[in-house]
Amino acid sequence: MDLHEDRPRLIEHAFPLKQASIDSVHEKNVRHGHISTLHIWPARRPLAACRAALIATLLPDPGTPQERRRLLEKIGGTVVKNIQKKKLHGKVVEVEKEETLGGVLHWGNENNPDMEWFRQEIRKAYGGRAPRVLDPFAGGGAIPLEAMRLGCEATAIDINPVAWFILKCTLEYPQKLAGQKRRLPDFILKDRDFMEEFFKSQGLKGASLRTMLQKLGLEGGSPLALLKGFEIPDAVLEADLAWHVRAWGRWVLERARTDLDKYYPTIDGKPTVAYLWARTVKCKNCSATIPLLKTRWLCRRDQKRVVLTMAAKKDKTGVEFGIDKDLPVKGKNAAERREHDKKLGQGTMSRNGAWCPCCGKPGTVAMNLDDIREQGLSGRIGTHMTAVILETRDGKDYRPPVTRDLQAANLAIEGVPDVFKRVPFGIPHESINTGSVRKGGVSVTRWGYATWEQLFSHRQLLALGTFVANTRDVSQAMSVLQYPVPFQDAVRAYLGMAIDKLVDYCATLCTWHITGEKMSHVFVRYALPITWDFAELNPLSSSSGNYSACLDWVARVAHHCTQSALTAPRQDVTLASAMKVDRITKGVDAIITDPPYYDAIPYADLTDIFYVWLRRVLSGLSPEADEGLATAVIPKWDHTASDGELVDDESRFGGDSTKSKEAYENGMFRVFEACHGALASKGRLVIVFANKQPDAWEALVSAIMRAGFVVDASWPIQTEMGNRTRALSAAALSSSVWLVCKRRIESTPPGWDNRVLDEMRHNIHKRLREYWDAGIRGPDFVWAATGPALEAYSKHPVVKKANEPGEVLTVPEFLRAVRRIVVDFVVGRVLSRDGADTDVSGLDDVTTYYLLHRNDFAFDDAPAGACILYAVSCGLSDSALCDSWDVLLRSGGSEPDDEAEPETENGDEPEEGSGATLRLRPWHQRKRKSMGYDEGRPAPLIDQVHRLMHLWKAGEVVKVDEYVEERGLRRHELFKRVLQALIELAPPASEERSILESLSNHLAARGATRARERDLPGIEA
Ligand SMILES: C[S@@+](CC[C@H](N)C(=O)[O-])C[C@H]1O[C@@H](n2cnc3c(N)ncnc32)[C@H](O)[C@@H]1O
Repeated sequence: MDLHEDRPRLIEHAFPLKQASIDSVHEKNVRHGHISTLHIWPARRPLAACRAALIATLLPDPGTPQERRRLLEKIGGTVVKNIQKKKLHGKVVEVEKEETLGGVLHWGNENNPDMEWFRQEIRKAYGGRAPRVLDPFAGGGAIPLEAMRLGCEATAIDINPVAWFILKCTLEYPQKLAGQKRRLPDFILKDRDFMEEFFKSQGLKGASLRTMLQKLGLEGGSPLALLKGFEIPDAVLEADLAWHVRAWGRWVLERARTDLDKYYPTIDGKPTVAYLWARTVKCKNCSATIPLLKTRWLCRRDQKRVVLTMAAKKDKTGVEFGIDKDLPVKGKNAAERREHDKKLGQGTMSRNGAWCPCCGKPGTVAMNLDDIREQGLSGRIGTHMTAVILETRDGKDYRPPVTRDLQAANLAIEGVPDVFKRVPFGIPHESINTGSVRKGGVSVTRWGYATWEQLFSHRQLLALGTFVANTRDVSQAMSVLQYPVPFQDAVRAYLGMAIDKLVDYCATLCTWHITGEKMSHVFVRYALPITWDFAELNPLSSSSGNYSACLDWVARVAHHCTQSALTAPRQDVTLASAMKVDRITKGVDAIITDPPYYDAIPYADLTDIFYVWLRRVLSGLSPEADEGLATAVIPKWDHTASDGELVDDESRFGGDSTKSKEAYENGMFRVFEACHGALASKGRLVIVFANKQPDAWEALVSAIMRAGFVVDASWPIQTEMGNRTRALSAAALSSSVWLVCKRRIESTPPGWDNRVLDEMRHNIHKRLREYWDAGIRGPDFVWAATGPALEAYSKHPVVKKANEPGEVLTVPEFLRAVRRIVVDFVVGRVLSRDGADTDVSGLDDVTTYYLLHRNDFAFDDAPAGACILYAVSCGLSDSALCDSWDVLLRSGGSEPDDEAEPETENGDEPEEGSGATLRLRPWHQRKRKSMGYDEGRPAPLIDQVHRLMHLWKAGEVVKVDEYVEERGLRRHELFKRVLQALIELAPPASEERSILESLSNHLAARGATRARERDLPGIEA
């Protein structure tokens, strides 16, 4: 079974698609020990999907359908349906949920005994050796971690130094220290909580646990440890890396607590969880200090409703805050209650600016956004403490700040310089790079926050500086206790990760989660926008985001990764550009990777916030670390070498968007070319495509083909949840397509377009039915089909046009043809409504678009990316659909709703997406005068339907009949199908449905009358 014979791989014939999708979605809910809790990293792929892709790429295809089925079941288990009860809009409803039973993909099954079977089979397939797997864009490490778990020799490359350290903590340190144990340091043996937790993790409980604690003098009774013969043997106190990370983290915390306690005073015996602040500006009309508040709600739960009260000071120089608790719910229905609450907790900020509580009233903007920006850019935005959140026995409590709170905050100002004397590079004065990527990306700079230091309050700087300084001291203390260097380095690196987690909770971009009563973190989106009011966490508290919690998350990942590395060979983690992979390694068996997509995520700009702190923690760790962390901020692009982070950002090219796009596209080509050089001749390249922009696909597919690869399989794996309120909006992001490629045989002749297109149609239709039946919907469907189509096209180095000598079928042309086939397939299904294929030839583009959009998103907000994709697939553009056809409405930008809660909590990784949305215009809002009349070309059918609906609603039955007659609609089969599909798409009992049904009945009745009239003697047809 040596794969040197180049037998087809399982992934080229079959894939546990459904199971991988179910388990990928499920994984989003699990946290403990999952690498997503080690460090925020944008666009981490689910482990289940990565594991499935790796196994299916590394194992040969068993050859028969039965064997394939058996193997797929061993990988993914079987799919079962469960009925679960859920509360929806106050009612308990039964929801059917699919789950996997067995297999090795489900979170928790990674140590299933079958994993060993897979490891053995994979080795067997490679002649008894560990295959070599490379990920040149390794990021947060999901792919190489799974490769390591499967016993492969993984090489993980990323150009971003933060990712590099995440990868070291995920692969390198765990592999080096897997199975190694050391006696716990003496200082921790005195920590009762720690030791109890440790002994419990070793399986001790009840009397044996108590005896152990007694032996350490940590349990009542005489300290047994003092009695001869009762000492705890060293072997019992031996612990792995994760426990040493915990122990030294506590060492850091205790020192930090001593240094920081006075800055977080406990008043009346109630420890402080967080301080709430508003940024302030001076009113340009009356010079009062205006607090900028998005909302005054502090807590809004069923039984607990607290708001901040605000009144102008007598002298009108600013406002005074108070707190109102136990506010009753008012309103007869949800809409009234929402309205009441909105008024009750109204802040001072709206989308247009702030109103002044001293000289104005709500709704009258005193300071527009430009005024606020102007004050920000001249450094005049201030801060005002509004409330203090406390921990009590009955949960969180809220009170107004008292003098000691304010004094403590001021005291911190003086403490900062001294703390940073202990920290290399001092206070983080490094500049924030705004970049030009994506609306919203790093936009804090627009408000005058130009350096990283400015995103932290003095007390936050003081606290983070203190944790950094104490973490740095860990190496020295460990070296005194003669820990081996790899152990010392790993512990400090993991503690560095804990500090980065703390950074995510300790910046002035964090807010208070009013319904969860907990801290929200910085990266609720992959962006750094301004927050008008913010929450300042006490990192010593026991509330979410505190240092202990961060440490615990990180230590759990250390445990998970060391377990995963137990049977792993050497793992390589390299900080380098993917364009150089062929110089770093050669002869790899599989490259599995997930590239960056144009301007989707500005990795380096965003992660500089972590880099500046990590650099302070880790500099001096090793010559390698110093080299990797040499620059003040993450390097972005090297113009001399034309190399760097592959992100399409025109600001790196003097604002020239063409140059930026070219640099990205050329860079991607160079990466795939280098992959070609690094791959063994029989190796496979698997690329994850998660981007839904047509241009991105065209460019990346061209790059893959130019680099000499053939696409020979593709699988769309669902990776996002589909049952949330945002399900429809998230549809564009719900799956990623995994393309499987191999080297093209050099002697392959050019192909001919007619044959290639025929083969493509054949491939697509077969697959589309399968994907449709598997429940894949929405824009993902388009991408899911692109893979099978490419199998036909990419076989040839070029595809020539049979009827146009000298011309070739370009990638964009080819993909356009694919998209149209897919769109026609979907619309055919919508029109038939019974799962059968319907021929839609002749259906105009606008109606095709309307039906597609209506079917997937109804009248909800739809992500702009999905709309663009559909529009392009129909030969239209989103702007034409908005402006010329008035089919679409621009419904949302990337600024979050004022009242909305952040989307993710507790360090969950946010989802990708620009946030821009579009919505279908309801028929009654489509009032273009010419709508439904031919303007140089026949009016779209949807416009004709909507014109008829307007006429019908106005009671113009005669005009309806005239219109129908003139256009021959009564005998227009496609028109009748469209009408019927619209009836079925319209909500029951809606006015839209009722009008459509009336029209349909009227047309049918009139049709019958006409037919009868025609049958009468003397009447001509
Ligand atoms: C989509 S992410 C990979 C995410 C990863 N699969 C995971 O599960 O976390 C793309 C990665 O490419 C990296 N990158 C961008 N340009 C690069 C380059 N020239 N060389 C290597 N890595 C690069 C980014 O830093 C980012 O981590």
